[in-house]
Amino acid sequence: MLLIEGRDTEPTGQAPTPRRPLHTHPAHAPTRPRMSIGTQSHPTDRPGPLAGVRALLRRLLPRDVRRSLARTGTRLTRVPPVGMVRFGSLRRLSPISADWGFDRGLPVDRHYIEEFLAAEAASIRGRVLEIDSNDYTRRFGGDQVEQSDVLHIAEMGPGVTLVGDLTNAPHLPSRAFDCIVVTQTLQLIHEVDAAVATIHRLLRPGGTALVTVPGMSPMTRDPEGSWGYHWGFTTLSARRLFERHFEGGAVQVEARGNVLTATAFLQGIAAGELRPEELAYRDPAFELLVTVRAVRAFAAPDGPEPDAQPLTEEGSAGR
Ligand SMILES: C[S@@+](CC[C@H](N)C(=O)[O-])C[C@H]1O[C@@H](n2cnc3c(N)ncnc32)[C@H](O)[C@@H]1O
Repeated sequence: MLLIEGRDTEPTGQAPTPRRPLHTHPAHAPTRPRMSIGTQSHPTDRPGPLAGVRALLRRLLPRDVRRSLARTGTRLTRVPPVGMVRFGSLRRLSPISADWGFDRGLPVDRHYIEEFLAAEAASIRGRVLEIDSNDYTRRFGGDQVEQSDVLHIAEMGPGVTLVGDLTNAPHLPSRAFDCIVVTQTLQLIHEVDAAVATIHRLLRPGGTALVTVPGMSPMTRDPEGSWGYHWGFTTLSARRLFERHFEGGAVQVEARGNVLTATAFLQGIAAGELRPEELAYRDPAFELLVTVRAVRAFAAPDGPEPDAQPLTEEGSAGR
């Protein structure tokens, strides 16, 4: 049982045992999560940037609401003494769901992916390429999509319009797509630099790549063994990777997640089992999902780019 349920929380009314900090060097000092509006933070956090907000809420919110919010904050931030952690349902060697939580609802990473694509929906327009299916293209691009293409690594199948490996796909048309949606795929590709170079090449000047990669995740296993889980990403590594290939364009990288949502996701606990404010809280120490919005430059700094190729029959039909 997660702490948020209230039934498995730490005993109340206990004075915390004074403990020596484990990390004494400032570079190793853990950053304390700051809870969102209305939750109780550690005394040393005050006065912080939220002091004004807290004062305003004290004036505006009824006392019982303030108390309830404070209780929630205390429950979510209290540090149990050593030996007093209640693991409850989480004390197990196999996850609660081995299917990322699909069997319980929407997995936590999918919640974040959908949040990102909803925020970037305006870019899912014109000719759009997606990997494996066009579910997100249709759902978030809607009527803005003029042509929807689906790339599969190995074979033509229902809905697939192009076949190719992102790391080596000279037959795929350059400068052809207004938007490329690549969700949860780059972690499976060892030659990730080559894959991002292809994504850049396929985009029209001014086109947008919307990419998500896992930071923390259970690993995917391909039963046929044609690909495997190679990488986890951080905002730092994703930014360097995309800035290298989108020179002159615009790259925005963000991360979502916190210790609670990361724990829930690793266990396969679904997003619907968490509260909206718990899902929304972002702790930079826990990058569960990294998102990239990369826009291709309109013109290469030194003139026309060499990769412009006409779309061929072969290119549109795959290898
Ligand atoms: C987890 S799925 C993600 C795509 C899907 N649209 C989604 O959001 O779930 C990852 C897919 O990436 C594809 N893939 C793996 N390596 C690839 C490569 N080198 N080029 C193109 N696709 C690749 C595999 O076919 C796999 O099904």
